Amino acid sequence: MLALLLGNGLVTNGGDSWHKQRTMIQPAFHRETLKRIHDITVDSTNELITAWKAKEGSDINFTREMAALTIDIVAKSLFTTDITNDNIQTVWHNINYLNEAADHMIRGLIRIPVSVPIPRHVKMKKYIAELDAIIYGIIDRRKQEKDPPHDLLQLLLEARYEDGTGMTDLQIRDEVMTIFVAGHETTVNALSWTWYLLKQHAAEEQKLKEESIRFENANPAFEDIPTLAVGRNVMNESMRLYPPVPIVGRIAVQPDEVMGYHIPTNVQIAINIAGVHRHPSFWPNPNDFIPERFSNFDMKGDNRFLFMPFGGGPRICIGNNFAMLEMQIINALLSAKVDMELVSTNVVPKALITLKPGDGVLMKIKAVRV
Ligand code: HEM
Repeated sequence: MLALLLGNGLVTNGGDSWHKQRTMIQPAFHRETLKRIHDITVDSTNELITAWKAKEGSDINFTREMAALTIDIVAKSLFTTDITNDNIQTVWHNINYLNEAADHMIRGLIRIPVSVPIPRHVKMKKYIAELDAIIYGIIDRRKQEKDPPHDLLQLLLEARYEDGTGMTDLQIRDEVMTIFVAGHETTVNALSWTWYLLKQHAAEEQKLKEESIRFENANPAFEDIPTLAVGRNVMNESMRLYPPVPIVGRIAVQPDEVMGYHIPTNVQIAINIAGVHRHPSFWPNPNDFIPERFSNFDMKGDNRFLFMPFGGGPRICIGNNFAMLEMQIINALLSAKVDMELVSTNVVPKALITLKPGDGVLMKIKAVRV
């Protein structure tokens, strides 16, 4: 289902082809890129906060605002391009529709092939074509640049396989689309759930503010981020309760036995991340928001599969460090500079391919300190 939009990009690819692509793309997420992401995230978040000054006293759809911010950050940091406001709206609107449509098709009793032109399929194709136009536009503009920047897009364009050939335009499109989609939707959900939780737990919000208040007049430096323990615990606890990707899938490559269940080769397994994250055998008071529980939580060993918002094993999210860095900066700056009030009364989780906060978390902007 995902391949309809993402083609053969990293998320949907498999076997040797996936391994080759992952090896090629991985360097784009190394330390140097993270520094770049840091700078861009600080600038883009400050721009957004400054724009919010004019919205003091008004309600905003916080989720939608975070979408615009994170689309901007992914586009600037990995593809060195600005995305127009119109295109941001298209990306947000079309991906939401496709997420809902894919869910409808997955749950439907009868699977109608996408080639059959029922209204939903016609609309899906139109929306994918609009997203394609944005992605191919980014790629085509880059090909004409005389002095291109060294970013993920350039890495994809210049990469060579062992036989000396490069990636086809279609493969580049699939990788760019994949990173573009995977790189913002999940982060938007995580940020929305985090602030939804913080607004219902004043003491936890206050602790974050105490840690972040020094950024009211000075930006967080790259080196500051690992020291922001409260922010990190808050993010982890929010993703424990509301993992942005609630389920991941695997296909058994050989027979196995798990807790008395026989698993034959080729069987599809759904790994219930959301369920494991709230399992009472492993998490005391599993439904409560207690960020401190992560202060002494060892992320290594078996615990890697007890807390796995980014999945696990060789297919673990390629953008996990990107996402944590980005979210911690955004939260620290929001906490230091913006007072918001929760408007939404009951946000119901929508478990599509990602775990969405209903139609978005609504907030009132009370004061912005810029
Ligand atoms: C809070 C933010 C994020 C969450 C919770 C998240 C979660 C996940 C999960 C659960 C997977 C599947 C892992 C598995 O099957 O074991 C995944 C894969 C992936 N994610 Fe993320 N992700 C986030 C942010 C990002 C960002 C920022 C990017 C890129 C900029 C990204 C790119 C990808 C890609 C390309 C894959 C496929 C990796 C592969 O199969 O080799 N993600 N992510």
